[in-house]
Amino acid sequence: MRKETYSFDFETYESIEELTEADALLIKEARKATELAYAPYSNFKVGAVAQLANGELAVGSNQENASYPVGICAERVLLASVSQIHPRVPIISLAISYHNLNGASKHPLSPCGMCRQALQEFESRFNQPIRLLLSGMEGQVQIVQQSTQLLPFSFKGDDLK
Ligand code: THU
Repeated sequence: MRKETYSFDFETYESIEELTEADALLIKEARKATELAYAPYSNFKVGAVAQLANGELAVGSNQENASYPVGICAERVLLASVSQIHPRVPIISLAISYHNLNGASKHPLSPCGMCRQALQEFESRFNQPIRLLLSGMEGQVQIVQQSTQLLPFSFKGDDLK
């Protein structure tokens, strides 16, 4: 038997003021994208914006349904859209933000488990780490260098072989 450890580094910034201009812009766009959410059931509006390798930005927001499980998270709306519109273009960075009925959202949101699985597939497909920029509408920002760091012991395509 041997004990093993899993850990990873991430960065915490007190606000977007501390970020590079490009990262701050991406977060501002994710905050704007919350307005595109269709979230009449949860009233929890999530925006996701990706910086693509070709320099373009792509946008996603959560899309809910009266049959609740049919709803799709902002991150997976975004990944599907990028895959469809830019099928050969990797994602470099992805910013996520949100707000709810309570107004202010000051703590960073991190993707749900299903979205982590979807992000992992996208990373491995393009062999390109996706940086995650996590925030609310104000306050702290957390940056993770590679989305798969949030999904240790994951199930992958190779496991099917
Ligand atoms: N949601 C996202 O869009 N992304 C996340 O990372 C967490 C949750 C959505 C799903 C649902 O529409 C609402 O937020 C409440 O869970």
